[in-house]
Amino acid sequence: MTKKLSSSPKSLRTKAIHGEAQSKSWEFSHHLIPPMTASTTFRLESLQRGAEGFSTFAADQKSEKPIWIYDRLEEPTTKMLEDQLALLERGECAVTFGSGMGAIASTLLSLLKANQKVVAHKTLYGCTYSLITNWMPRFNIQNSLIDINDFTKLEQELKDPTTRVVYFESVSNPILEIADLEKIAALVKKANLKRAKDNQIYTVVDNTFATPWALRPIEWGIDFVIQSLTKNISGFGTEMGGAVIAPKEHEGNLRVARKDFGAIIHPYSAWHILVYGISTQAIRFEQQQDSAMKIATYLEKHPKVERVIYPGLKSHHQFKQAKKYLQSPEGKFAPGTMISFQLKGPMKKCQKFVDDIAQNSYSITLAVSLGLTKTLIEVPGFMTHSAIPSDKRGESGIDPRAIRLSIGLENANDIIQDLETALSRV
Ligand SMILES: Cc1ncc(COP(=O)(O)O)c(C=O)c1O
Repeated sequence: MTKKLSSSPKSLRTKAIHGEAQSKSWEFSHHLIPPMTASTTFRLESLQRGAEGFSTFAADQKSEKPIWIYDRLEEPTTKMLEDQLALLERGECAVTFGSGMGAIASTLLSLLKANQKVVAHKTLYGCTYSLITNWMPRFNIQNSLIDINDFTKLEQELKDPTTRVVYFESVSNPILEIADLEKIAALVKKANLKRAKDNQIYTVVDNTFATPWALRPIEWGIDFVIQSLTKNISGFGTEMGGAVIAPKEHEGNLRVARKDFGAIIHPYSAWHILVYGISTQAIRFEQQQDSAMKIATYLEKHPKVERVIYPGLKSHHQFKQAKKYLQSPEGKFAPGTMISFQLKGPMKKCQKFVDDIAQNSYSITLAVSLGLTKTLIEVPGFMTHSAIPSDKRGESGIDPRAIRLSIGLENANDIIQDLETALSRV
């Protein structure tokens, strides 16, 4: 469709708004890099096409040529990012959101109704914990927080007719426990045999710490996978985003949830995650992981360090399970880029050490978030997980002195040197 305006008698004011014509550059198959789209709304050439767009949005049967209507419904850049995410996570489709929390909230609220229950692992990212324990009960959606690797307890919960979702993190934030995905998926499948088709229990796994480069939960029988794209997948600390990778039959429902809850990702962020993040994720992850292994080994030997948790260390209490699940798509052990550790002595030692890093370290920054090019340190009990009431943090396995270290792309020896300097002063 071309609208020839150069010969039109319309005023310059109007021409300044409409330009010359539509461009053929919408066809981007010849671009090496896809163009970034930035249009909140889309031109529809007839009412019939507009009506078709609305009536087929989120439907199983789509017209061959996509009908773009409005950013909050769907748009081309985001769609390309979604296709890549589905590919990486080995899922049937992906739906992106404005943040990881947008993805988690929209997924849970699209799967659960009042008087139903989510069974979740007791250790969760602080905002997920708050969503499940503070917000969802307001809509009469209940929860049971259990040890997801306690299969007797899990089986009991699966017998409860109100249970509808089993939720956990594949590698838990912040204490890096590894969930037994295969076993959990098998128990849920067994429980589902006794349930009606419209009352099945779904497994939803937050795979942010592992990323698809270390673990693909769908291969182990999990239904829904969450990613905070803000972290390793975007990787540079410039974009926020989230995604759920889901069975195709749920795509429509998730898209309607995103439309109505409004948690969309900006196409600018989607473009950066697609072009810079996804294409460099493997190489960043592997480099950061190599450094994480060196740093965890250094910390474990340090006389002032009480405990180090890193899935790549033989001392990790689930080392065998880590080796089973944390594998790159190329079959290499992939224990990840995150370390948790604590110092000997009281909280004030931990505080002194972290403050020293914050004020004097060049290569380590006191900041939340993870998986970025820069190494970040934080204390979950007082920062990312502070939404968990202090009397519940023990139940969640979060020691107030535990320190979380997300390894970046700096030279590993520089990071070790900065840790050594701060440790020598406590
Ligand atoms: C494991 C995990 N899941 C989800 C989130 C939420 O992601 P976002 O900050 O993109 O909303 C975070 C944030 O730190 C996280 O650590």
